[in-house]
Amino acid sequence: MAITGLIFVGFILAHMYGNLMIFGGQAAFDEYAHHLRELGAPMLPESGFLWLMRITLIVALVLHAYAAFTLWARAGRARHQRYAVTKQGYGQFYAKAMRWGGVALLLFVVFHILHFTTNTIQINGDFAAPSDRLVSSFEVWWAVLIYLLAVLALGLHLRHGIHGAAMTLGLNTSLTAQRRIHQVAIAVAVVTVVGFMVPPFAILLGLTP
Ligand code: HEM
Repeated sequence: MAITGLIFVGFILAHMYGNLMIFGGQAAFDEYAHHLRELGAPMLPESGFLWLMRITLIVALVLHAYAAFTLWARAGRARHQRYAVTKQGYGQFYAKAMRWGGVALLLFVVFHILHFTTNTIQINGDFAAPSDRLVSSFEVWWAVLIYLLAVLALGLHLRHGIHGAAMTLGLNTSLTAQRRIHQVAIAVAVVTVVGFMVPPFAILLGLTP
């Protein structure tokens, strides 16, 4: 879970940074979307890099979800044993938040791909250019709300997930290290939520160029 989770963190930060291209203007955003399809050329065919990334993400997602459901089932079995009663309160809340938050994120990603990648779900019109789809969608307040809820769920998931991953990888070697892990987890979560939500809110308020 830790390693596949860190692959997602890399993708999330790169994706968030890419979305900020909308502040360079719609042409800059479309140029960036086009450039993504040409990355690695001529060594890679058209969209080759994109497909490598998609395959990596799909494999990581399958492994991440498999590990999550295995742990979930194991925790469910453990609940019948006596020592399981110690795992309550804060830990129990986070365990539930990670599971249901993870399921919600999975549903969001399906919606998101149907929305922006395949253009199956159209909000506020049908447009060919990625930037037109982005701008027209986020002129609608409830689209901003859907993305806000999803990104907040992602922030919570990242905050606790990064913490868990650092523990699993044995990075919590001292009190100072634990404090650093805590700070990094919060920083990544805050940067992700703010970075992802700045473009939708700027579009809604008519502040993008
Ligand atoms: C406000 C937040 C977000 C915005 C505005 C946004 C925007 C976009 C856009 C425009 C695309 C299509 C890119 C293209 O085809 O050129 C895209 C693709 C994608 N996004 Fe997001 N995204 C957001 C949040 C997220 C989050 C939180 C996740 C993951 C949890 C995510 C995962 C993906 C994935 C997996 C793809 C498909 C990449 C592909 O296979 O082509 N996005 N996003």
